[in-house]
Amino acid sequence: MTGAARLLDIAVHPVPEGADGPDPEAFLAAARRVREAGGRPRALYLVPDFANPSGKSMTVAARERLLRVAAEADLLILEDDPYGFFVRAGSARPTLKSMDRDRRVLHLGSFAKTALPGARVGYVVADQEVVGPGDRRSLLADELSKIKSMTTVNTSAVAQAVIGGLLVECDCRLRAANAEAIASYGTSLATLLGELERHFPEDRRRELGVRWNEPTGGFFLVVDVPFAADAKALEHSARAFGVLWTPMGDFYAGGGGEHQLRLSCSSPAPDRIVEGVRRLARFIEAAALEAAGPA
Ligand SMILES: Cc1ncc(COP(=O)(O)O)c(C=O)c1O
Repeated sequence: MTGAARLLDIAVHPVPEGADGPDPEAFLAAARRVREAGGRPRALYLVPDFANPSGKSMTVAARERLLRVAAEADLLILEDDPYGFFVRAGSARPTLKSMDRDRRVLHLGSFAKTALPGARVGYVVADQEVVGPGDRRSLLADELSKIKSMTTVNTSAVAQAVIGGLLVECDCRLRAANAEAIASYGTSLATLLGELERHFPEDRRRELGVRWNEPTGGFFLVVDVPFAADAKALEHSARAFGVLWTPMGDFYAGGGGEHQLRLSCSSPAPDRIVEGVRRLARFIEAAALEAAGPA
């Protein structure tokens, strides 16, 4: 999203997340700051469910508040929702689009996780009215579709046919068609959480200054560590301990996440997750010891 904004010369203002993901009050404050500085904020972008990278999700109350905040600040909401189906515990929460009563939300969907990543096919729900020259009225979705076909000379017909075929086969019931995948991703995340707990029981993680969040779905979680989780640490982790993770600092536009790493459990099978956490625990123990210096 930030890359696309850069290409179009659109200014982006990062908004910090709260404990439950995107924070409506923080969005409101940021919109006010931009306006006071002479800017004209137009839209806010967020991943309400099982965000990448944080794994966090918004409560239903926060979703309601966010819709009110967007109305108050006259902002469109870009709801990016590639992970909403992949619930581990509890039930799926309503999308912002399903709660939207005044056409404020653009819902961005992807078939990357529910069908096939290589197809590079997604979709947008954009029911906003656009007024063009001569008072010509059309739907934002139709305008976006024209822009998309001009900038990429359409989406590969073969890729669309593959996704279309999958949709026909499952009677357009993607959630049901993904039941096995949803259960399998849930098992992977539960395995990751269980293994972290096993290697860092409460006393040990308090001693070391290690913590992590417990997402109720999706593929990601974030671990706080007592050392700089940067590219150098990652290289050491990979070379000496044989395990990869992502420095959280890479996800911040203007600093942050320096002592955090993102773990992803979408691809490895549970036995690899068990082994991966074993290696990660050895790396974290060693790096924490080194950061603490001589006793
Ligand atoms: C936040 C977010 N949005 C969207 C996507 C999916 O995008 P695409 O459909 O381009 O693969 C991903 C992951 O791949 C993601 O993490």
